[in-house]
Amino acid sequence: MKAIVCSTFGSPAALSLQELPDPTPAPAEVVIRVDACGVNFPDLLIIQNKYQFKPQLPFSPGGEVCGIVEQVSQGVHHLQVGDRVVALCGWGGFAEKVTVKAQRVIKVPPAFDSIAGATTLYTYGTSYHALKDRAQLQPGETLLVLGAAGGVGLAAVELGKLMGAYVLAAASSADKLALCKNKGADRLIDYSKQDLRTQLREMLGDKGVDVIFDPVGGHLSEPAFRSIAWRGRYLIVGFTSGEIQQVPANLPLLKGASIMGVFWGSFAEREPAQNMLNIQQLMQWIKEGKIRQHIHQIYLLKDAPMALQDLMERKVMGKAVVQMPRAMEANR
Ligand SMILES: NC(=O)c1ccc[n+]([C@@H]2O[C@H](COP(=O)([O-])OP(=O)(O)OC[C@H]3O[C@@H](n4cnc5c(N)ncnc54)[C@H](OP(=O)(O)O)[C@@H]3O)[C@@H](O)[C@H]2O)c1
Repeated sequence: MKAIVCSTFGSPAALSLQELPDPTPAPAEVVIRVDACGVNFPDLLIIQNKYQFKPQLPFSPGGEVCGIVEQVSQGVHHLQVGDRVVALCGWGGFAEKVTVKAQRVIKVPPAFDSIAGATTLYTYGTSYHALKDRAQLQPGETLLVLGAAGGVGLAAVELGKLMGAYVLAAASSADKLALCKNKGADRLIDYSKQDLRTQLREMLGDKGVDVIFDPVGGHLSEPAFRSIAWRGRYLIVGFTSGEIQQVPANLPLLKGASIMGVFWGSFAEREPAQNMLNIQQLMQWIKEGKIRQHIHQIYLLKDAPMALQDLMERKVMGKAVVQMPRAMEANR
């Protein structure tokens, strides 16, 4: 099979397309023939050896796939060869085939679109868990989303609107903000042009923001937190700026506010039943057309390093996705 391989930790340019033997499943695993694989920020961190998960070299990146079950090992009961599935594999998805623990694989209807399948779980799963289970966002509350045109950010904008919030989308360019508006954002903030705190003050006066969704960190965190409302909730989602949020501890005290960690992967493992309810809800909303992933670009497998490079350079809006040539042909 063909696969994108990381043989040495570093930038996307160090990845190469290689021919590898087909994988075989260990007990409790399945082999999925990959149709498409979503591109997520953690893929970038994993190839640089900067993520929580540290696969041994050499490995293929790519953590979220949609495809067809091709082999099932003993001990797997909820899946059969030929099932259409989505799965969180952690890594290995930028390849024609991947082995995945069966418990991380979810069966979807045979006609489920492979691009939607490969781009839904990570972003919507994370953002829904953050807004619903952690912040307990209520209709009528104000939600500020930083990095709002990125993968989890745009999902938070869409879900925030669906949950009845007044959504402020903050991002670094007019194009990115136009996309957020298209997804329903009520107010737009370009933090590349003017100080975030000043813009929030102008928009909200002393009222403040009830919930802040922060996948960026760095220099945006403190001005955002200074704009939080009484009993506000600040969601720590990620650190794409490369800097972990530093918020002086007196700020939550003064606002009776909470800083809340969001770790969707751990939530999914520790609270699988709750997570499955969330996923069913998201699938239902997709079916009803209430949420729809914005696809920035579909890349061929050989171009997966370019997809990661684009993500690193902040060019991607919504989601990038890698599709296997065979699946691309089938869609024509
Ligand atoms: N906690 C969890 O359970 C969980 C789950 C999934 C993902 N995450 C984390 O969430 C974060 C976002 O992931 P994602 O897949 O949504 O990423 P993404 O699509 O690349 O979006 C991230 C956004 O961050 C902003 N950004 C600011 N500085 C950046 C920089 N130096 N490099 C790249 N982007 C920068 C960009 O928006 P602007 O250009 O508009 O500033 C970009 O759109 C990552 O840290 C990821 O690890 C966490």
